[in-house]
Amino acid sequence: MKHLAILGSTGSIGRNALSVAEAHPDEFVVSGLAANASVELMECQIRHFRPRQVALNDKAAADELRERIKDLSVEILSGPEGILAIATMEEVELVLEAIGGSAGLLPTLEAIKVGKNLAFVNKEVLVMCGPIVMQAAKDYGVDLLPVDSEISAIFQCLSDCHEEALQHGEIHRLILTASGGPFRQTPRDQLQNVTPKQALRHPTWQMGPKITIDSATMMNKGLEVIEAKWLFDMDVSQIEVIIHPESIIHSMVEFVDGSLLAQLGVADMRVPIQYALTYPRRLPTPAPYLNLSQICALHFEPIPRDKFPCLSLAYLAAEVGGTLPAVLSSSDEVLVKAFLDEQIGFMEIPVILKAVMNRHDVELKPSFDDILAADGWAKSTTRELINTKRY
Ligand SMILES: NC(=O)c1ccc[n+]([C@@H]2O[C@H](COP(=O)([O-])OP(=O)(O)OC[C@H]3O[C@@H](n4cnc5c(N)ncnc54)[C@H](OP(=O)(O)O)[C@@H]3O)[C@@H](O)[C@H]2O)c1
Repeated sequence: MKHLAILGSTGSIGRNALSVAEAHPDEFVVSGLAANASVELMECQIRHFRPRQVALNDKAAADELRERIKDLSVEILSGPEGILAIATMEEVELVLEAIGGSAGLLPTLEAIKVGKNLAFVNKEVLVMCGPIVMQAAKDYGVDLLPVDSEISAIFQCLSDCHEEALQHGEIHRLILTASGGPFRQTPRDQLQNVTPKQALRHPTWQMGPKITIDSATMMNKGLEVIEAKWLFDMDVSQIEVIIHPESIIHSMVEFVDGSLLAQLGVADMRVPIQYALTYPRRLPTPAPYLNLSQICALHFEPIPRDKFPCLSLAYLAAEVGGTLPAVLSSSDEVLVKAFLDEQIGFMEIPVILKAVMNRHDVELKPSFDDILAADGWAKSTTRELINTKRY
C-alpha cells in the first residue's frame, strides 16, 4: 500500500486523484489532504477517505472544519505551516502537489527536502524555479513524476530510452500538442470582447479556472514549454507546439533518425494521474479506453502566434531564463484573476504581461530568495498597471 498526501485535494486534479485512489483501494492509503478553504468538500473527503491529517490554508475555514468533524479522530491543521506539515508527513511515500500557482512553491521544495517522491502537476513551480527544483530532486534522490498530460506524454515516450541515447543528443524535437482552446476558430479582432464565461468553455478538458483561461490565451502551452525545458534538459529551440484539436495525441518526441513516438489516450486526467501514482507500473484505468474507429481522423494546425501573443512571451522568458519565467508566471496569475473578475479584457492579458516583463531587471542566476522577490515584484507591478491603466 502506498501512502499518499494530496495537496489541493478539493481542486480539479485533486478530485481526479482521489477517484484514482478510490478505484484501487488495495494500492493506496490517503494519509494527508490539503486545500485552501473548501470546508464542505473537505469534510466529504475526510469522511470518505479517513486521512490521518488534513490542512486548510485559511484558518477560519480550518476552525469550522474542526468543529464539523469533531466526531472523528482526524487532526486538522491550518495556515501555510499546516500545508507544509501535510507535504512532509512521515508515513507518506508520494506527495501529489496540485495546489497551483506560486502557493505550491514551498510545499514542493519542502516535500523534496524530506525525500518524498513527487507527482507534480503545478507547472508554475517548475516555471518559476526549474533549476532549483531539479537540483533539489537530484540532491535528495527523489523521483519527479509529471502529471500534466503533455509532460506525462513526453515522459512516457522517453521512458524506454536508455540514458546514453538521451545524453548523445538522439532527440531532435519535443512536440507539445495544444487543443487550441475555446477560441481556435475565433478571429483575432473578436478576441477583445470575449467574456470569462466564453473563455471558461474548454472544448476537450474539464479543468480549474486558472488553467482553463491559460489554455484560452495559450499561456498554458508556454508554461509547458518552460516546464519541458527543465524537466527534460532540452534547448528551447527543440520544443515545438502544434494545435491538435481532438486532444488524443498528448505529445510527441521526434528522434534524430526521423522516428516519432507519440502517446495517445482519451482526454481524461485520471490517466496521467494514475501513471504518476503507480509509476513504473500500469494498472487498469478508471477512465474509458480510446476508441480510434469512433474518432476516425486526427488533425493538426500551426499556431497563429499573432492571435496568441502569450505563447511568444513565454518562449522569450524561456530563452532569457533567470527570474523572467517567474515574472511571467506570477504576473499571469494576477492577470487571469483580473480577467475573471472582469477588470481587464482578454487581449489586455498579453499587453500588460509584456509591459511587466519589459520593466523587470532580470537576475540571471537567481537564488530562491531572488525568485520570491521576483514573484512579489511581478504581482504588485501587475496590480499597479491594472489599477492605473498605464501600460
Ligand atoms: N485541472 C487539470 O486538468 C490540470 C491539467 C494539467 C495541469 N494542471 C495544473 O494543476 C494545478 C492545479 O490545477 P486545478 O485545475 O486542479 O486547480 P483548481 O481546480 O483551481 O484547484 C486548486 C486546489 O488548490 C487549493 N489551493 C489553492 N490555494 C491554496 C493554498 N494557498 N494552500 C493550499 N491549497 C490551496 C484549492 O483549494 P480550495 O478548493 O479550498 O480553494 C484546490 O484544492 C495547476 O498548477 C494547473 O496548472 C491542471
